[in-house]
Amino acid sequence: MKTLIIYYSRTGTTRTVASALADRLDADLAEIHCERFRTGAIRFLLAGYHSVKGNLPEIEAPKIAGDYDLVLIGTPIWTSYPSLPVRAFLAGNPKLPDRVGLFVTYGGQSDPDIAFDGMADVLKRPAEATLALKTDQVEAPGFEESLDAFVEKLNPPVTPAKAGVQDKG
Ligand SMILES: Cc1cc2nc3c(=O)[nH]c(=O)nc-3n(C[C@H](O)[C@H](O)[C@H](O)COP(=O)(O)O)c2cc1C
Repeated sequence: MKTLIIYYSRTGTTRTVASALADRLDADLAEIHCERFRTGAIRFLLAGYHSVKGNLPEIEAPKIAGDYDLVLIGTPIWTSYPSLPVRAFLAGNPKLPDRVGLFVTYGGQSDPDIAFDGMADVLKRPAEATLALKTDQVEAPGFEESLDAFVEKLNPPVTPAKAGVQDKG
């Protein structure tokens, strides 16, 4: 299975999750870059303001070359929504494989389902699996298990029936 992981990360937390998932799934990584909200207190406030307003920024979208079976999209949550760079990426209607998984990192103040539902709406398909990690859960005890559970949902073990093997009982 050929997997692509597309993500945005302002301060590195979502990048850590994306890299750990790429190791597990032997996936390619593609980062969305956005100059407008680089680190700093002023830009943090700007990001919040524009996120509430829905003002999509200019981004440097990754080029998607190759036939992928599955795409994972990762984002921090901003004001309860996916981050603006990811919203801008999805608004560009990129050509993506049918199979989608979603992951978010967040401070813990929001319901991640709001961000997941928003992304699934724009993608016009449900996510096969979702993973929401609070910032302080990333690389903390239990992190590996959370990643394993997410990957398992994306890679269900092949049962004999599905593999076309007859059960002769
Ligand atoms: C502009 C902005 C808005 C945020 N809004 C929320 C929020 O509504 N709910 C929440 O739980 N965390 C919120 N956070 C915290 C981030 O989601 C969290 O720190 C995330 O792990 C950062 O990921 P990153 O390091 O990949 O950028 C916000 C962060 C920023 C910069």
